[in-house]
Parts: sequence; C-alpha cells; structure tokens
Amino acid sequence: MRIGILTGGGDCPGLNAAIRAVVLTAELRHHDEVIGYLDGWKGVLDDEYMRLDVHRCRDIVAQGGTILGTSRTNPFKEDGGPDRVRANLAANGVDALVAVGGEDTLGVAQRLGDHGVHAVGVPKTIDNDLSGTEVTFGFDTAVQIATEAIDRLRTTAESHHRVIVCEVMGRHVGWIATHAGIAGGAAEILVPEVPFDVEMVCERLQRRHRGGQFSSIVVISEGAVPADGPAADSARLATSGAPVDQFGHARLGGIGAWLAEEIERLTGFEARVTILGHIQRGGTPSAFDRVLATRFGVAAVAAVHDGAFGTMVALQAGEIVRVPIADAVAKSKTVDLDLYRSVAGVFLG
Ligand code: F6P
Repeated sequence: MRIGILTGGGDCPGLNAAIRAVVLTAELRHHDEVIGYLDGWKGVLDDEYMRLDVHRCRDIVAQGGTILGTSRTNPFKEDGGPDRVRANLAANGVDALVAVGGEDTLGVAQRLGDHGVHAVGVPKTIDNDLSGTEVTFGFDTAVQIATEAIDRLRTTAESHHRVIVCEVMGRHVGWIATHAGIAGGAAEILVPEVPFDVEMVCERLQRRHRGGQFSSIVVISEGAVPADGPAADSARLATSGAPVDQFGHARLGGIGAWLAEEIERLTGFEARVTILGHIQRGGTPSAFDRVLATRFGVAAVAAVHDGAFGTMVALQAGEIVRVPIADAVAKSKTVDLDLYRSVAGVFLG
C-alpha cells in the first residue's frame, strides 16, 4: 500500500513520535510505502510531499514540532479544494491518508470522505478538546510546562506579595488551566466553560489576603470570558481586533492582561501577568505523550489495513479504540465540571 500522512493545525509535542510510529509500522510490518505531505492540507493541495522511511524517522521520537510542518489551511476554503486533494492523492497512488490533527484537520478529513478520500484520523492537540478520546497527545506536556511555570511564578509572587495572572492556552476549553491550576495550587482557575465574575474573583483574593496569604496565582485560559455585563464589554474591547484563520478562529490572547489590570484596580493589590503562549506547544514531549502518540500511530496503520476509513483512533479506559471522526469533531470535549467544581473548587480562594 501507499500511505500518505499529514500533520495539520497547531503543532504539539508528540507529532514526530506519531509520524515515526506510522512509518515504522507501515514499512516494517506491512512493507508499505509512506509519503509525508508538507504543511498539513496545504501540502496535499499543492502536491508537496517527502518520502518517509525508517531512516528518516530515526531519532525523532523525542523531537518537538513536526518534521512535516503544519498549517491551518482549509481545502474547503480553496478554489476546487476537495477535487485537487482527490486528484493529487490519486496521481501519487496514495491508497489512504493518515491525518494527524485536532478538530479542524480531522473535520476536513471527515468531509473529504464524502469526496472519496480514504482517511484515518489521529487525535492531537494541547487543548485536549477532541471528543471520543479521553486524552489527546500534546496535552500532558503542555500541562507539565504550565505547572512548572506556575511553580516558578509562585516564588516571585510570594517575594513581592503580588497577584500573578498566568494565561494559558485553551481556545474553547479549560483543560490546561484546570489541570495545571490544580497541580500548581492556583488560587483561582478561570476557564471558557464558566464565565467568571471579576468582582467575585477580587473578593476571594481579598479574603485570602485578610487570611494572611499575601500572594496569589490566578490561572486563566486564553478563551475565558467575564459573565455578561460591563466587565464583559470592557474585556471584549481590550482583546478584540485579532485576525481570523481559515477555520474561523480568532487569534486569542490578552484576557490575562485585562484581568491583571482589573484586579489591581479593584483590590489595590499589585498584579502582573505572564502569558505562556507557544512555550506550551514547543519542545520535547513528555514520556506519556511519546507513548500515546506511538500507540495511536501503530493503531492508525492497523485501521488503514482494516479499511476503517472515516474513523479516528482514540484512548478509552486505557485501550486504543476506533471512533467515527464525525463523532469526535461534532462537539468540543469541554472540561469535566465535576473536576472543576468538586475537585479544583476545594482548593480555590
Ligand atoms: O492548537 C491549539 C492552540 O494551541 C490553541 O490553544 C491556541 O488558541 C491556538 O492553537 C493558537 O494558534 P496559533 O499557533 O495559530 O497562534
């Protein structure tokens, strides 16, 4: 067989481990050939690819980023996109495509199924927002990086008796904020799923200070928003005007700076902000992410050979299973509110 592979959307730690697993499994177990399309769906549209073999994939398991490159190109936004994809795959003799991505990349793979493209999905994203799988690779590393940052911010916050707002990634969901916030002992965790009341946040910080805790770490997802009202209007104003990508997502960032200013204004406490940004996506993957990405890659090749097109490999109860891509991308997997309220809630404030 000839298998194509691409990595699309935001990069994350573990992509190279997944590529390596697909290539080694395909070549060594099935004597398949693998080509890697460059820069996500853009490579398939423009017919840009590289041959991948065991030799090329040596020593990449620990490497961050993706040797294939990535982009947020959406073939359905390009002239004749789906037809170009199908024609290029056919011209290269590609029997099946392994699409490694999040909701956007896999959503395209699912829609292309209706245009005759045979695709199997592999879930990745630091946001951990894909349904159908308990976890995506990239998430564990991002949480580890955010937790280490919070640990460091705590000591400087304590020295200066400050509030430090730490803005983490998470466009629609607060998985990174919740996990890193719990692990880092944050005083407040603010997530997109639960609009926050800035005055209540400030009241709780003041109560901490009255109780003798003169420094606080507030973890906020980049996609968190204040509850409707003047605060929401003011936050919108401070963070608006960002460009939008081909999937309709605005570039986020800035809510943390807005919140730090509000905290300083409403409490009089000195406040600072740290935006972790792409530090959370860069660098070497954790052992957990390397293993998960490897398991997914091996399972994706098995799915290709079983003709299980339109499915995504997933982790459920410790086992690798297949779920319809359509189910995985139908809606975002939001934060478990029981974890947020009953577990994280015990330690907040
Ligand atoms: O891949 C998911 C993500 O990291 C989101 O958390 C974040 O909003 C977005 O990507 C940032 O995208 P870009 O790297 O294109 O700015």
